[in-house]
Amino acid sequence: MQSLLEWVDARFPLLKVWNEHLAEYYAPKNFNFWYYFGSLAILMLVLQIFSGIFLTIHYKPDVGLAFASVEYIMRDVPWGWFIRYLHSTGASAFFIVIYLHMFRALLYGSHRGPRELVWIMGMVIFVALMAESFMGYLLPWGNMSYWGAQVIINLFDAIPVIGPGLSEWIRGDFVISDATLNRFFAFHVAAVPLVLVILVFMHIVALHRVGSNNPDGIEIKENKGADGIPLDGIPFHPYYTVKDIVAVVVFLIVLSSVLFFAPELGGWFLEHDNFTPANVLQTPPEIVPLWYFTPYYSILRACTPDYMIYLSIFVGIVGAMTLFSARNIMVKAVAVVTPLILIVGFYTLEAKFWGVVAMGVSIMVFFALPWLDRSTVKSIRYRGWMYKTALGIFVVTFLVLGYLGTQPPEGLYKALAQIGTLIYFAFFAFMPWYSQIDKTKPVPERVT
Ligand code: HEM
Repeated sequence: MQSLLEWVDARFPLLKVWNEHLAEYYAPKNFNFWYYFGSLAILMLVLQIFSGIFLTIHYKPDVGLAFASVEYIMRDVPWGWFIRYLHSTGASAFFIVIYLHMFRALLYGSHRGPRELVWIMGMVIFVALMAESFMGYLLPWGNMSYWGAQVIINLFDAIPVIGPGLSEWIRGDFVISDATLNRFFAFHVAAVPLVLVILVFMHIVALHRVGSNNPDGIEIKENKGADGIPLDGIPFHPYYTVKDIVAVVVFLIVLSSVLFFAPELGGWFLEHDNFTPANVLQTPPEIVPLWYFTPYYSILRACTPDYMIYLSIFVGIVGAMTLFSARNIMVKAVAVVTPLILIVGFYTLEAKFWGVVAMGVSIMVFFALPWLDRSTVKSIRYRGWMYKTALGIFVVTFLVLGYLGTQPPEGLYKALAQIGTLIYFAFFAFMPWYSQIDKTKPVPERVT
């Protein structure tokens, strides 16, 4: 073994990579529960690719055959049901893991400098993951696959001038058809997974360049011993590899329980309407995406013509606050002009268009987080009540919007979604102020 290793190492920097990223990668010694989700995300990516390959062996990307080929996998292929449920339940599990992974960043300020690029790459991964699951959902060619894709792609129609052409270009046809199914298949099984793997690699390389954050939000690299090793660091391997294996085992137990006993989770992980083949003549009573998209779907549907007045007041307040607090004249000018343009737009362009914009912004705004957060401390442990309250309200709002996205947008549900949308945006829009004036606690020199 030893001589084989030496032979390989002389030709490929095996030991160097092993040491740099595992045996001599010094991670803070105070990682807690929230730090499991990065490695669990890698596990989920591997499981999705693995189960996806086996599904592709039997799946047929053809509108005449797709639905039946999935049923064939479920009924006739040995262990086909397991592979299919692993993939469909896995998609939801992946999003749960990713949402918790992102929440950890909000708790401990992991998105803040010097980890801005780790965060941005994470966000690009998140957007790619959304595209991946959206396209994957069309493949079984169930009725919700068809109508869900129809609704989402039709949203592009609302973009002035280029919209209709753009949606036709995405579909490859005037309606969702075989052309759409084929291109979604190509992107879902080849292009996007490849991009995801490359992005995850870059995400980790970027993280290892700056070093991991920790629940205290302290830079351990600032306290090194005489040997140049951070005093609060421990080698990732074996300490965290062993710790992560425990998490993987517990996680797989939970995942298997769902997979074996409630793989559709009452319609939350696989919708009932997707067990009937796509039918161009029969629209499902409620077209609803899977749960991980519903908060944004709620925001999309909240933007009705009567809502424009509230959006106008909102952008007016943010503009006024920026105008009075900014020192730079350019920023002041932007703070006046942007709300004016927006308000004129709210009353001249369709509300549907603003729904699409609001949905897009509700995702894209996360990219700006490292610069919106102006606190002098990173971790929630040393922040004041304002950030804690804002984060708590944001999480509750996100969950409520998620639920409302599964309900018809009428009456009380609609009103709640509209209030929720304002709260959602307020979390980001007012962050530069409340994160700055929030009273913080002194941060210790070393991890606790
Ligand atoms: C396929 C998806 C992803 C994989 C496999 C992945 C993997 C990882 C791993 C292994 C780590 C180091 C261990 C840890 O800190 O938990 C990490 C850290 C991090 N990730 Fe991700 N990640 C993914 C998606 C995301 C997303 C969507 C975001 C946010 C938008 C994100 C933001 C971060 C941040 C800020 C850190 C540094 C955490 C710290 O040092 O405290 N990641 N990621």
